[in-house]
Amino acid sequence: MNSSALEENTQEQAFLNISQVDMVFPTPTGGFTALKDVDLQIDKGEFISLIGHSGCGKSTVLNIVAGLYQATKGGILLQNKEVNAPGPERAVVFQNHSLLPWLTSYQNVELAVKQVFNKTMSKGEMKEWIEYNLKLVHMDHAMHKRPDEISGGMKQRVGIARALAMQPEVLLMDEPFGALDALTRAHMQDSLMEIQNELNNTVIMITHDVDEAVLLSDRIVMMTNGPEATIGEILDVKLERPRSRLSLAKDVEYNRLRSEVLTFLYEKQRKVENITSKTTAPQAPKKKIANSK
Ligand SMILES: Nc1ncnc2c1ncn2[C@@H]1O[C@H](COP(=O)(O)OP(=O)(O)O)[C@@H](O)[C@H]1O
Ligand SMILES: [Mg+2]
Repeated sequence: MNSSALEENTQEQAFLNISQVDMVFPTPTGGFTALKDVDLQIDKGEFISLIGHSGCGKSTVLNIVAGLYQATKGGILLQNKEVNAPGPERAVVFQNHSLLPWLTSYQNVELAVKQVFNKTMSKGEMKEWIEYNLKLVHMDHAMHKRPDEISGGMKQRVGIARALAMQPEVLLMDEPFGALDALTRAHMQDSLMEIQNELNNTVIMITHDVDEAVLLSDRIVMMTNGPEATIGEILDVKLERPRSRLSLAKDVEYNRLRSEVLTFLYEKQRKVENITSKTTAPQAPKKKIANSK
C-alpha cells in the first residue's frame, strides 16, 4: 500500500501505527498466510508485550515493524512516515543474539554507537557511552571478549546494550530475556523498566513469560494461533509505576491480569494438537513411583 493511502486510513495519528497488516509467505505449495489484519496503534512511550503460542506470527510482526519484512497488505507508519527498511530509530534485539563474531563486546556496541552518534559525540564521549551501556547490563568485566568467549546469556546482554546504546525511539525485542538465568533476568527486567521510564522509548517486546508481560507492559497484545493469526485480545495493564515484583506478587489486580493471560493462552487459544498428538511427554513408570518413598 502506498503511504498516502495508509495515511488516509489513519484517523488518529498514532505514534506507531501497525495498519491492517497481512503477511503471506510464498511456499512450494502456494502462499501461506501467516498474519491477517493485524492492526494496532501504539502511543509514544508505551510498553507493549506480544504474547501468543509458538509459530503464531509474533516474530513476523516484529520483523515487519523493524522493516526487515515487507507486509503483503497494509503497512507500518512511524510518526506518519511509512516504514520500508530498517533504521537506527528502531533498534532490534533478536531472539538469537546476533553479534558479529570477529568483534569484541565493546566493538559490537561501538559499531552501533558510531552509526547513530558519529556526528554528535566526540571519541571520548562515545567510549564513555559504550562503557556505560555495557555496565548497565553487567557486562563491563567482559567488554573485550569476543562472542565465542562468553556465554549465551552474556551475548544476549551485549545485544541489549547495543540496542539501548542507540537510544532508539522504538525498541523491538524478540524474547530478549529467554536465555538468561532467573536472577539476571529479573535484574534486566528492572533495568529495562528504569531505562524506559527515563528515556520514554516505545517498546514492543515478545515474551513467553506471563509474569514478565504483566510486570513490564502497559498493554499485553495476545495473538491467536495461525495460520491467519491476528490480535485476539488486548489487556490494559494499569498497575502503578514504578512496579516492584515483590509487592505485586500479592496484588489482586496483578493476579487477575496474570490469570486473564493464562486463560487466553491455555483455554481460548489452547493448542489442541499438542494435547491429542502422540508426541506428548513419556509416561513415568507407575510402579516405581508407587514403590519409592
Ligand atoms: N520466511 C518464511 N517463509 C515461510 N513461512 C514462514 C517464514 N517465516 C515465518 N514463517 C511461518 O509463519 C508463521 C509465523 O512464524 P513466526 O513469526 O516466526 O512465529 P512466532 O515468532 O510467533 O513463533 C509460522 O507458521 C512460520 O512457519
Ligand atoms: Mg518467534
